[in-house]
Amino acid sequence: MPAQNVSADYIAKYRRAYELMRSLPQDDPRSLATQANIHCSFCNGAYKQAGNDSVLLQVHFSWVFLPWHRWYLYFHERILASLLGDPTFSLVFWNWDDQRDGGNVTRAMYLPNDSSLYDAKRNQANLPPTLVKLVPTITGNDSEIINQNLNPMYQDVVNNDNAELFMGGAYVTGTDLSNSTVLSAPLGGSIENGIHNAMHFWTGDPTQPLIQDMGTFTTASRDPIFYAHHSNVDRLWDKWRYGLPGGPRADHSEDDFLNTEFYFYDENASLVKVNVRDALDSSKLGYSYPDVAADELWINY
Ligand code: C2O
Repeated sequence: MPAQNVSADYIAKYRRAYELMRSLPQDDPRSLATQANIHCSFCNGAYKQAGNDSVLLQVHFSWVFLPWHRWYLYFHERILASLLGDPTFSLVFWNWDDQRDGGNVTRAMYLPNDSSLYDAKRNQANLPPTLVKLVPTITGNDSEIINQNLNPMYQDVVNNDNAELFMGGAYVTGTDLSNSTVLSAPLGGSIENGIHNAMHFWTGDPTQPLIQDMGTFTTASRDPIFYAHHSNVDRLWDKWRYGLPGGPRADHSEDDFLNTEFYFYDENASLVKVNVRDALDSSKLGYSYPDVAADELWINY
C-alpha cells in the first residue's frame, strides 16, 4: 500500500519490525546491518561473476537491476514478517511519483529520531513539506515542481516501451561494469538511471562526502526508507509491464537473463539460490500492487 495511506496500527507494526531487525546481532544475516551489507557487497565488487572470475559482480547498471532488487525486497519483507510473527505483514511503497495525493514528500513516520524507521543521514533541507524532485535540477514553486516531476515519470516509464530502454541492457558472463557509475551507466535502464537515482540523491545527506546514507551503494540500505523507495521502483516495473495504455509490455526473454542466479538469506537465515525467471511474476511471489489513481497524471502527461 502507498506509504501515505497507512494506519496508526500499521505504523506501529512497521516500527516494531525494524526495531526487531535492528536488535539482532550484527552477524545475523537478518539484521539490518547485514541486510545493508548484502546490498553493498552486490554493488561494490565483493563477488566475482560465476564463469568468469576476472570480472566482478555488479547488480546495478544493467538488466539485472530490477530482478535483483525484487528478490532482495522479497527476502527482506519475509524477514520482517517472520520477526513480527505475522506472515501477512507487507512493506509499504513510497510513491514519490504521486504528484496529487500526498506521496511526494517524506512521510512523517520516518522522521521521529526515536523511531526504528529514522535515519540521521538524510537531507535536512528535504524534510516535509519539501516536495520531491525527480530530476535533481528541478527548481521553482510547488506547482512548478509537481509539473516538472511528471515529465521524467512519463519519459522514464511510459515512453520507454521496450525492455532494453526501461530495464537496461544485457549483462552476461564477461560483461564488465566496473567503469559504470551512477553518473554514467550506458547499459542502465531509464527507471534506474533516472527517477530511481534521483530519489537516492534527494534523500541522502549532501553534507556527507558520499551523500550517505541513501546517496551511495555502500550505505543506502542502512536507511529503512530504502526498502519503501525500492518497493515503489518495483511497483513501477509492474505498472510498466502490465498497467500502461497499449497493453502489456515485454520483459527481456533471453536465456542469459532468465537463468541469472543470485544467493540471498531467507527468513530462517538460510542461504537460498534464486533466479531471474522466477522473479518476473510478482503474483507468484505472493504480492500485488493496488491501482493508484494518481498514476494517471504522469501516464497522461
Ligand atoms: Cu541497489 Cu536503489 O539501489
